[in-house]
Amino acid sequence: MKKVAVIGGGTMGNGIVHVFAMNGYDVNLVETKKEFAERALNTIDKNLTRMVTKEKISEADKTATLERIQTHLDIAVGVKDVDLVVEAVPEVFELKKKIFTEIDANAPDHAILASNTSSISITKLAAVTKRPEKFIGMHFFNPVPVMKLVEVINGLETADEVTDKIMETSKKLGKYPVPANDFPGFVSNRVLMPMINEAIFCVHEGVAKPEHVDEVMKLGMAHPMGPLRLADFIGLDVCLDILNVLYDGFKDPKYRPAPLLVKMVDAGKLGDKTGEGFFKYD
Ligand code: CAA
Repeated sequence: MKKVAVIGGGTMGNGIVHVFAMNGYDVNLVETKKEFAERALNTIDKNLTRMVTKEKISEADKTATLERIQTHLDIAVGVKDVDLVVEAVPEVFELKKKIFTEIDANAPDHAILASNTSSISITKLAAVTKRPEKFIGMHFFNPVPVMKLVEVINGLETADEVTDKIMETSKKLGKYPVPANDFPGFVSNRVLMPMINEAIFCVHEGVAKPEHVDEVMKLGMAHPMGPLRLADFIGLDVCLDILNVLYDGFKDPKYRPAPLLVKMVDAGKLGDKTGEGFFKYD
């Protein structure tokens, strides 16, 4: 595996491009507009500079990393000569379906197709392609250059050798891959989202203020961020979408989204990206 295409240069996408390029892979970054591609490259540049400042990489490493990245606006061109495609576009099934149909039609036959989805069924996405055995979930965590985990999710038809290849590739990125089977929320969000939801219920029911809920979890449970700060960081809309996937998938009321979460999303208070969620940001 030498060349990779990453579809989408948003928060997750640019982090994924960053780690592949930093670890020696040639990367085609595919975006829909030139300015989105430039914004992704600027973020990567900024995060690499931060690593140079902290003496984790050299200035020469940074230059070489950036030189390995090419941007494209056309999926067909971006995937035509790659060994792996990692999709990181918004969590909308119809959008992913359209994109995977195009990727499948244009990527080489040997290429593995991976989705960074945090909640959509890998089996369902694989079924829109003609290569479900070469389809897999490669779930990274934000901030991608920092977080060690890659949750590797097997769809119903994912071939064992494809799982092995993606486990091996994740290790080459300096990550720690953990395998899981395709089930709503996989492991990460099935465990994380009920905790975030319960923290929101605590605020809603007046058990404690947001900062106090977070202090309990940070100081008492050694979480680097409290659940409400983390919910803002992930995006309250994303948290709500994932909870709905769990709720719909298991038909179990324990996953019902907290009404306060729904209300905040309705109000457009989505967390860091809108400047306000449970906390305010500049
Ligand atoms: N690129 C490169 N390096 C970065 C970075 C980035 N984008 N962001 C932070 N860093 C580095 C910093 O340079 C710093 O490096 P040193 O340790 O060498 O000093 C280190 O990461 C820590 O950063 P900071 O000192 O700025 O801040 P911090 O100590 O408060 O850590 C954090 C920030 C890493 C985000 C930490 O708060 C944390 O781990 N939070 C939890 C994050 C988390 O849970 N993410 C998962 C979200 S869920 C998800 O993504 C998937 C899903 O499906 C919803």
